[in-house]
Amino acid sequence: MAKLELNIPDLTLPDGNKIPQIGYGTGTAWYKKKGDTSKDKALVEAIQTAIKVGYTHLDGAETYGTESELGEAISKSKVPREKLFVTTKVTDNIQDIPGAIDASLKKLGLKYVDLYLLHEPFFANGKEAELQQKWAQMEEVVAAGKAKSIGVSNFLRPDLDAILKTAKVRPAINQIELHPYLQHGNLLDFHKSKDIKVAAYGPLLPLTKFKGGPLDPLLVSLAKKYAVTEGEILLRWIIDQGVVAVTTSSKEQRLSDYLRVFTFDLTPKELEQITETGAQHHARGFWNHKFADTDKS
Ligand SMILES: NC(=O)c1ccc[n+]([C@@H]2O[C@H](COP(=O)([O-])OP(=O)(O)OC[C@H]3O[C@@H](n4cnc5c(N)ncnc54)[C@H](OP(=O)(O)O)[C@@H]3O)[C@@H](O)[C@H]2O)c1
Repeated sequence: MAKLELNIPDLTLPDGNKIPQIGYGTGTAWYKKKGDTSKDKALVEAIQTAIKVGYTHLDGAETYGTESELGEAISKSKVPREKLFVTTKVTDNIQDIPGAIDASLKKLGLKYVDLYLLHEPFFANGKEAELQQKWAQMEEVVAAGKAKSIGVSNFLRPDLDAILKTAKVRPAINQIELHPYLQHGNLLDFHKSKDIKVAAYGPLLPLTKFKGGPLDPLLVSLAKKYAVTEGEILLRWIIDQGVVAVTTSSKEQRLSDYLRVFTFDLTPKELEQITETGAQHHARGFWNHKFADTDKS
């Protein structure tokens, strides 16, 4: 398969570091059951393929149980460390962030990660002081040189408001589920107003888990018009909002296809059509136990 000769664009984080606008995820489809210490060779190979195809942004988390596969693939790729952008996240060991980052780095075989995220705010049960205390520990991870940037994931406005009250280092990014069926009201505008970037996970959910929704015909017709896949239309909708897309695939062809998103543009009208059509339906693919079915936040 030919490697697409293109540079994946970066977004500049508020701390000045740069993040590639598409990332390869090692969760969800690759997630391991707790206590499973076996090595997933298929994942190591899939990450190596992703790097070969051109992905440099690799998304992990301690709770996925796949950091050692990510580390092995990075080591086997022989790509210089500074050319990669590696993310991991803390949640299982939230009570011991200094220990958690050390354990993650050991599994990854790295001296630092590019981005370290608080995986979710739910541990704090809405208690501001808890969020603020954990954020202060994240700041220490940066000070120790173990992460270049720090951020959060699955945070909504009240969670962000809480940490912004005491933060010395602003959260660089918030990684959230984002697709046309979950647009989160004005949450994206709030991020812009605070200069916090957004990364979208589950960007393909309207095509995978939620097929049969109102977007189906529009995705088919736009994919036909641009001679791309429906998935690429969904990724383009994310990219066009200045958001980082975090996807994954076990298939080289799909990974290679996804990079075409940087070679075509949807018109403003088409983007608006996707937004409006998507807003007619509501569906959440992750963390559903934390939200009422009708909650669009
Ligand atoms: N922070 C968080 O709480 C959180 C939560 C969830 C995910 N994440 C991160 O985000 C990454 C991506 O999440 P995601 O997997 O939900 O992303 P996604 O981009 O929405 O979905 C990717 C999945 O869709 C499948 N797929 C693609 N096109 C398809 C089609 N036409 N028909 C059927 N299946 C298709 C792929 O399978 P193939 O292998 O067949 O291509 C792959 O498993 C994760 O790996 C993880 O790193 C973070």
